[in-house]
Amino acid sequence: TIARQVDALLAQMTLEEKVGQMTQVTIDAVTQGKNRYSSDEPLALDPADLQKVLVDYKIGSVLNSANNRARTPELWYTTVKQMQDVATQKTRLKIPIIYGIDAVHGETYTAGATMFPQEIAQAASRNRALVRRGAEISAYETRASNIPWAFSPVLDLGSDARSPRQWETFGEDPYLISELGVQMVRGYEGDPNNIGDPTKVASSIKHFLGYQVPQSGKDRTNAYISDEALYEYHVPPFRAAVAAGAHTIMINSGLINGVPMHANYALLTKLLKQDLGFKGLAVTDWQDIENLYTRDHFAKDQKDAIRLAINAGIDMSMVPYQYEQFCDNLVALVKEGQVKQERIDDAVRRVLRVKYALNLFQQPNTNRQDYPLFGSKEHEQASYQMAAEAITLLKNTDNILPLKKTSKVLLAGPNANSMRTLNGAWTYSWQGEKTEEFAQQYNTILEAVQKEIGAQNVQHVPGVSYKMDGKYYEEYADKLDEAVAAARNVDVVLLCLGENSYVEKPGDLNDLYLSDLQTQLAQRLLATGKPVVLVLNEGRPRVISRIEPGMKAVVQTYLPGNFGGDALADILFGDVNPSGKLPYTYPRYPNALISYIHKYAEEQSKAEGAYNYEADYNPQYKFGDGLSYTTFRYANLTVDKASLPKTGQLTVSVQVTNSGARAGQEAVHLYSSDLYASLVAPDMRRLRRFEKVNLKPGETRTVTFTLPVSELSYAGPDGKPVLEAGEFELRIADQTTKFMVTE
Ligand code: IFM
Repeated sequence: TIARQVDALLAQMTLEEKVGQMTQVTIDAVTQGKNRYSSDEPLALDPADLQKVLVDYKIGSVLNSANNRARTPELWYTTVKQMQDVATQKTRLKIPIIYGIDAVHGETYTAGATMFPQEIAQAASRNRALVRRGAEISAYETRASNIPWAFSPVLDLGSDARSPRQWETFGEDPYLISELGVQMVRGYEGDPNNIGDPTKVASSIKHFLGYQVPQSGKDRTNAYISDEALYEYHVPPFRAAVAAGAHTIMINSGLINGVPMHANYALLTKLLKQDLGFKGLAVTDWQDIENLYTRDHFAKDQKDAIRLAINAGIDMSMVPYQYEQFCDNLVALVKEGQVKQERIDDAVRRVLRVKYALNLFQQPNTNRQDYPLFGSKEHEQASYQMAAEAITLLKNTDNILPLKKTSKVLLAGPNANSMRTLNGAWTYSWQGEKTEEFAQQYNTILEAVQKEIGAQNVQHVPGVSYKMDGKYYEEYADKLDEAVAAARNVDVVLLCLGENSYVEKPGDLNDLYLSDLQTQLAQRLLATGKPVVLVLNEGRPRVISRIEPGMKAVVQTYLPGNFGGDALADILFGDVNPSGKLPYTYPRYPNALISYIHKYAEEQSKAEGAYNYEADYNPQYKFGDGLSYTTFRYANLTVDKASLPKTGQLTVSVQVTNSGARAGQEAVHLYSSDLYASLVAPDMRRLRRFEKVNLKPGETRTVTFTLPVSELSYAGPDGKPVLEAGEFELRIADQTTKFMVTE
């Protein structure tokens, strides 16, 4: 068994060899910095550095792409193999390296790989099977590049629209995140987990814990999270993914309640490893052990930072830039008794277990020819399908959509003709700045619309453009007057607004409103009196309340990937019936960032004479919103028991009818409300189940959910679930019913 193999190997290892296994360097540590501008020449790996990193320092892991640039799978294959050959042939114990990469919506750094919609869009599809399939394809294509470890999925709560990484999450609901996170882990690792299969990869659930909710809204800063909130909203997705067998986890770069997560023994060791039972490998985020000293002033020097992190439960250090110092310091800490040998052995066991599970000792490299489906039509179709089910129709006044294919249209806005904005970051490079170069064969929104209705019916005048070589948010007026003039000659304006690509710190934001220039463009186009369809292409919901009332229709594309343009055109012109549902609350004001999961106090008081406070819950669009070209009628929401004990289980059913004229898919959401509870005030409403159904016109389906009453509990101050007897309400669409939980 793997445990026995690990123990046998561990018994032969020196302290230096063990410490090397706990270290991950960036590939730039072994390249000569060459090939900076070329993606199709083999990378020059420096033999002296290879010797130093892999043989002298015995480093166990490498990550990232040299020069932050995508390469062909062939080049990836040989690059990783060169390192693997040194590790497995020239080192004393011949331990393979584990190579990791940010394959977060397909293999980010491989040219020609299938790029999927980003996670936030995948969440909008509400389609578990598509999410799993996307991860399966991504795993296959990542292994085609000889890489066995993907830093995905993100299981952070995406409840803060200011976050520069909200688009990497499955949105604001812990149940939705848990359900889809488990599907992604299964897609990457197999079901049951079988990462020895060379079409699977080890997943890395991230960023444990509370990463996306810092008080400042800025990346990698301090979040204040009560124990109740931690256990109620942040822990469940990780608990579910740990139970689904995820092999690795990455730690939050920020702080919780003033303590950097990388030094948090209570959360890394007690909660994650002991309570949740995580047996896998915990890797830091980039340079985060050094950050304890250089950024956080939490450690007194670098050595102290290493002591704190390893003792807190870190198993592998990602990119200590001075890896020699990291290794030497950790060896010294063990010799001085400041880090126990058992802690080192535990960490190394976890690393080796993943390497054995990946079968890297038997087969350190995959066979390039075993991946004929890399970038195939079949894979691309899965990405298209996901985009088609994700894109969300938020407004459709007078059923202006779908448009007639004989329409004359103007495409305007900075997102109308960009592959970069369709994909977002982590696409062919870190910030997505290389996407235009690598994605030329795919269709932008403009190109897809031209294909759909003929180029002669389409005008394109941007009005506003992004400075592609500037900061992600820099824009300039680009024929603004001409765009307004062109609007007068068409039937409808497709106004493609949103954001350029960004991730992490470079994506921090000071103003959640859509940019001034884009707002101005929208206002001027609206003033022409022509119908305007607002197409949003953005990583987070930028506030649009200054222009939304004039829009005839609003379509949210999120970051829909390489086939997002095609899927959008099919929706706009009626070939596809939209079925996406918002995975977050779309705020109306920057100062009203209230999740759909909120307390009763955040709703308007219904008491007579109560004031109508400005800040009451009134978002632009609600979690779960999303229209179709058909209509759905709900009836007969029933529960099988009017009252049941805390150990009981409910069966809930509802009839859904397609009451319109065309076939459509509907995601049915079951919510619960705890009407009275003590200790911790209950949330207004919580999602408990969802299921997407496909109905022909006139067809009725009974959708049935089972729901153990224990799932209606909430986390008490110690994190333990509390369930009080009393009345609960269930809601599906416009149907409600109540039942009692007894002692
Ligand atoms: O996986 C990422 C993480 O999400 C952010 N920092 C860098 C890591 C590796 O590239």
